Amino acid sequence: MSNKTFYITTPIYYPSGNPHIGHCYTTVACDSIARYKRMQGYDVMFLTGTDEHGQKIEEKAAEQGVTPQQYVDGIVKIFKNLWSYMNISYDRYIRTTDDYHVEAVQKIFKALYDKGYIYKGEYTGKYCTPCESFWTDSQLDENGCCPECHREVKEAKEESYFFKMSPFAERIEKLLLETDYLRPKTRAQELVNNFIKPGLEDLCVSRTTFKWGIPVTFDEKHVVYVWIDALNNYITALGYENSAHSDFDKFWPADVHMVAKDIMRFHAIIWPAMLMALDLPLPKHLAVHGWITFNGQKMSKSLGNVVDPFVLGERYGADAIRYHILREMALGSDSSFSNKIMIDRINSDLANDLGNLVSRTVAMVIKYFDGTLPADRETDELDNELISMAENLRTNVDKYIDETQLNNALAEIFKVISRANKYIDETAPWVLAKDEAKKARLATVLYNLLESIRISTTLLSCFMPTTMPKVWEQIGADESLITYENAGKFGVLPANVTVHKGEVLFPRLDIDKETEELNAILLKNAPKSEDADKANLTPIAEMIKIDDFGKVDLRVAEVKACEKVPKAKKLLCLQLDDGFGTRQVVSGIAKWYAPEDLIGKKIIVVANLAPAKLCGVESNGMIVAADVGEDARVIFVDKDIPNGSKLR
Ligand code: ME8
Repeated sequence: MSNKTFYITTPIYYPSGNPHIGHCYTTVACDSIARYKRMQGYDVMFLTGTDEHGQKIEEKAAEQGVTPQQYVDGIVKIFKNLWSYMNISYDRYIRTTDDYHVEAVQKIFKALYDKGYIYKGEYTGKYCTPCESFWTDSQLDENGCCPECHREVKEAKEESYFFKMSPFAERIEKLLLETDYLRPKTRAQELVNNFIKPGLEDLCVSRTTFKWGIPVTFDEKHVVYVWIDALNNYITALGYENSAHSDFDKFWPADVHMVAKDIMRFHAIIWPAMLMALDLPLPKHLAVHGWITFNGQKMSKSLGNVVDPFVLGERYGADAIRYHILREMALGSDSSFSNKIMIDRINSDLANDLGNLVSRTVAMVIKYFDGTLPADRETDELDNELISMAENLRTNVDKYIDETQLNNALAEIFKVISRANKYIDETAPWVLAKDEAKKARLATVLYNLLESIRISTTLLSCFMPTTMPKVWEQIGADESLITYENAGKFGVLPANVTVHKGEVLFPRLDIDKETEELNAILLKNAPKSEDADKANLTPIAEMIKIDDFGKVDLRVAEVKACEKVPKAKKLLCLQLDDGFGTRQVVSGIAKWYAPEDLIGKKIIVVANLAPAKLCGVESNGMIVAADVGEDARVIFVDKDIPNGSKLR
C-alpha cells in the first residue's frame, strides 16, 4: 500500500428518522472522492456514521415505547442498508454509542476541564428542541424563532458546563480568512462578521435535563451535550484516546470534512477551537455544500418533505441517482430536487449521450468487423481534438476532485462523451464502411471511440461504480487496463480489441409517466410530520392541472360586519369588502368563532362560487378555512394586502 494517505469524512447523521436524499448527497460525494483517491493510489480512510445521543432521540424512543438504544439500532440499520444500496465504500462506520467513543469523549471532556477550557456556569437562552440548539436573541429569525427550522424556541435556564471560545478567536479568524481551510472561501467573511467580530460566545457543552448522552465522569448529573460528543467522532474513530483503533497518527489531520451549510459554523469555528484546545493539528479542508431543497425548503426529516432514495434507486438504479445529485449541485449553492429534472438528466446524459455512445460504437464494431477490430490504422487530422481532450481529461478531473467540485468534474467527463458523439457524426463510419479501401480508416475511428469511452468511464467509475464495469465488458477492456495511470493515456486497448454486445445501460424513460407515478408514490410514502399527527390529515386529492386550479378565483377580503344567523346554530353571516364592493357570505364556522373574532380581519374568499341559500340566507362565495382535526380554522391574511387581491 502507498504511503500517501487521504482521510475524508461525512457528518455523523442523526438517526432520528429515515435517511433522505440530502444525506445521500454528502455520502455519495465523499464516496466518489474516496474512490478517486484510492484509484490514484492513496491509502484512504473514508469515515461515516451516526450521532446517536440527545433529547430528540430520547423523546422519539419514548413515543415508540422502546429504549433509546433500541430506537437508534433500528434506524442505523436503515442507514447502513441505504449505504450498501447506494454502493458506498466507507472504510469505517462510527456510532457515538460505541463504547470506545464514549470512553474517549469522557477523557477529552476531562482533559479540556483540567486545562481550564471547560468551566461550570449557568445557561439562560432560547432553546430549539427539534434542532437541539441554544440560540442568542440576535441569532433568532425575524419572528423570534429558530434560525434553522423556524419553529418556536423556548426560554431555558440550567446549570451547564461551558467551553471557552475566546482564547481561539484570533487564530480562527486567520484560519478562515488567510488559509484555504474553508471551501468555498466566499463564506469565510460572513462567519467572521457574524460570529467572531461580535465576540465569540462560549459554548454550552453539558445538559442536566435529559439522560440520553455520555455522562460527565466527574459530575454525573450532567451529560455531554452535542458538539463535544459529535465533532470528536472524527478523531475517536481513528483511535484518539481509545484502543479500539490505532490509525490516528497515520490519518490525522483529515484531508476533507464535508458538511452542508447548516453545520458549517460548528465545523468552521467550534471544531478548530476544540482541536486548538487539545493541541492537535487542524484538518486541511472543510468543504461546505448547499442544501437539496424540495418545494423551496430544505429537505429534512422534521419538515416531512423527504424524497425516499430507496424508491428512486429501485426505479432508476443507484448510479443514476448518484449521478443526478452530484451533477446538479454546485459547491456552495443549493439545488432544488425535482423528479422531472432528474428524469430529463437520466435521459439526456445517461441514456442519450453515454448509453448511445457505447451502444453505437459496439454495434458498429460488430456490424463492420464481426466484433474484432483489425490492427491496420489510418489517422486523420479530424482525430486530434478528440484524442487530446481524452488525454487531458484526467488532469481536469483531478483538479476538480481536489477542489471538491464534483459537478464540474462530471461536466468535464461528459464534454469528452459529447465530443465523441460529435466525432461519430463528423467521421460518418457508415459511409467509410461502404468503401473497402477505407477499412483501416474505419477501424481507426472505432478504436478512437473505444479509447475515449475507456478513458471517460474509468474516471466516471468513481461516481457510478455499478454501471461502468458493464461498459468495460462491452468495449472489451480487461479490468487490468482500468487504472488511473491508463486514464491519462490514449492507445491502451489492444489494437485488435474484441467487443461484446451487452444490455442497454440506461433505458430511456417516459417523462410524463415517470413523473406521474413518482409523485403518487412519494406522496403516499412521505412520512407524516409532527403537524400532520396533530391535524389528523386527510389524504392529498388527485392531481389537477394548473388550468383546473386557475378556475377557482380566490380573493382577499375584509370582514366589515358579522352576525349569527337566527335559528342556525352553525352559521355566521359575514359582510365582506372584496375590493369591488360588499359581498354577503354565509359560513358554517359559528362553533369556533364569535362575530367579534372576525370583524376587521382579512380573510380569503372563493369569489366565483355560484350563489347558494343556506337556511334561507343568500351566500355569495365561501371563506377559506383549514381542517384541524375536528375543528376548522379560518385563514387570516396580512392587513397590508389590499382587498380584492387575487391569489395564485
Ligand atoms: O447535523 N441537503 O446531523 P443531520 C443536503 N448530527 N445535505 C443535507 C440535507 C439537505 N437537504 N439534509 C441533510 C447533524 N444533509 C449532526 C452532525 S457532525 C459532527 C454532526 C446532510 O442528520 C448534510 O451533510 O442533521 C448535513 O450537514 C448533514 O446531512 C446533517 O445531518
